[in-house]
Amino acid sequence: MANLDKCHIIDLPKITDSRGNLTYIEAYRHIPFDIRRVYYLYDVPGGAERGGHAHKALHQLIVAISGSFDIHLDDGGRKKTIHLNRSYNGLYVCPMIWREIDNFSSGAVCMVIASDFYDEEDYYRDYGIFLDDAKRL
Ligand code: TYD
Repeated sequence: MANLDKCHIIDLPKITDSRGNLTYIEAYRHIPFDIRRVYYLYDVPGGAERGGHAHKALHQLIVAISGSFDIHLDDGGRKKTIHLNRSYNGLYVCPMIWREIDNFSSGAVCMVIASDFYDEEDYYRDYGIFLDDAKRL
């Protein structure tokens, strides 16, 4: 299966309640990897873009905890854009996907659950080098 086709929306459990809804995420049960790190983007100024890189081995789940944004995915062969705007939806992103995130709404919070600790060695930050390696897969 092409890497782009492995990236998909995962419907997370949602416990609806008149006091407010609750969503939870369990490693392997709801997402196909173990959880080693969580980080989030917030206070994103209007018009800003994040991402602009790919990972060699990292698996991620991206959730619009609050607000909305667009995620542009590119596996070196094909591209697609996904709009995330639900706290109970997560976008699974497999390794070897170049991603850019933009169109953040005011107050948006982008939470990322990752399969490993932060490691700069796992990044492609040069699109040309990423493309060369992606085409060799
Ligand atoms: P980066 O991954 O480029 O951010 P984004 O993809 O969201 O635009 O990371 C931005 C900076 O933060 C970079 O200097 C690395 C650092 N960083 C950490 O130290 N730990 C982390 O877990 C992450 C995700 C980034």
